[in-house]
Amino acid sequence: MRSGSTRARIRGKVLAGKRRRRYKAAMSNASVNYFVTCAKGLEEVVADELRAPAIGAESIEPGSSGVYFSGDRATGYRANLWLRCGVRVLQEHARATVIGSEELYEWARGIDWPALMKVEQTFSVDARVWDSAVTHSKYAALTIKDALCDTFRDKKGARPDVNVHHADLPLFLYLHRDVAVLYRDMSGTTLHKRGYRDALHKSSLNECVAAGMLLMSGWDGTTPLLDPMCGSGTLVIEAAWLAMRRAPGLLRDVFPLMRWPDFDKKAWKEVRAAAEAVALQEPPALLMANDIHGGALSLAKKDARSAGVERFIRFSNKDVAHYTPPEKPKLVVSNPPWGERLQPADLEADWKALGRFLKGHCGDADAWILSGNAEITRHLGLKSERKYPIRIGPVDARVIHYRILPPRKAPEVSS
Ligand SMILES: C[S@@+](CC[C@H](N)C(=O)[O-])C[C@H]1O[C@@H](n2cnc3c(N)ncnc32)[C@H](O)[C@@H]1O
Repeated sequence: MRSGSTRARIRGKVLAGKRRRRYKAAMSNASVNYFVTCAKGLEEVVADELRAPAIGAESIEPGSSGVYFSGDRATGYRANLWLRCGVRVLQEHARATVIGSEELYEWARGIDWPALMKVEQTFSVDARVWDSAVTHSKYAALTIKDALCDTFRDKKGARPDVNVHHADLPLFLYLHRDVAVLYRDMSGTTLHKRGYRDALHKSSLNECVAAGMLLMSGWDGTTPLLDPMCGSGTLVIEAAWLAMRRAPGLLRDVFPLMRWPDFDKKAWKEVRAAAEAVALQEPPALLMANDIHGGALSLAKKDARSAGVERFIRFSNKDVAHYTPPEKPKLVVSNPPWGERLQPADLEADWKALGRFLKGHCGDADAWILSGNAEITRHLGLKSERKYPIRIGPVDARVIHYRILPPRKAPEVSS
């Protein structure tokens, strides 16, 4: 038989468990501030993604190379699973005005670090500092790291290790005009790594930029789409997932957020199940991809297979100068070589051939072309509708929209 004190202890534990669950439920519904990073130029596209019902975020505010938003914990989970153009989703944990490194350290010492991780887990700290009394980003990061380790040593007698690339708790500090904001990085490995690609074609387009081009074009997934210079196929693979309304994070099963003490497994499962439920079995439209390079095409097929979409794409291995698509496209998206990473013998000839192909085979279609070289782009011989600046690594590139005119009717000859 249990003694009265054992019963009281068990009841105490049960009550503590109930309190913990109630607290967790309350925190799940509490509004949290987030910041999602993205390529400069894609902020408005990311804002639209956040606004869409699949994520349903609130207080959306595009910034520079990222977008602020808020929502409950599940909103953050949906953002990780659904964002096609976002790079990493950061969840705000603490904010304060701190002037100088001593204040930064004291503030960071006040954070309950053992509530955020176990001592056996790993962490990393990245910092960006502008217009503040603390002037060095690395020094700011080191100050946060010291405060975290000192707190752990005081409270637990040991400190956790740093893991720069795969930390359980990746931290970001933004210090702007002496306002410090500490974020937990929910995504870890950047979200462009969808999980369908292990080898990188040397000129593979970043998945987030590819998805950005597709979303900018306003394509609804129901009309034939073609990439006549597809390389490793990023644009058509992303197009297939977009047309299938497939959440781009579904293939990934590792997110740091899953290793945090406040991870809400039930909410995560619900968010995943909802995403799985809305995905179509196949894209409603034909997708076509072509490349002159057999090796690139094999890679495209392999990646498309990993993404589960190979059978929906009609691949061909032709010089665009001699290519006739199996169906007339309504949307052409492409990232032709522009000489930044590839050095083809005759870039000019490639762009001229692409221009002739567009005029000859894609009348009445829209073309969205990525270029990082204005000089070479003019060889397309087409007048653009609009150019959208986008930053890709060190390159100030442009996504250029062209409207290809329908073929002219031959004049009627009167007899
Ligand atoms: C910048 S890469 C495309 C990268 C691609 N978006 C990806 O994600 O991997 C340019 C591609 O154009 C192809 N290309 C160049 N000239 C071509 C031509 N005349 N006809 C067809 N493809 C061509 C190259 O083989 C190369 O794979």
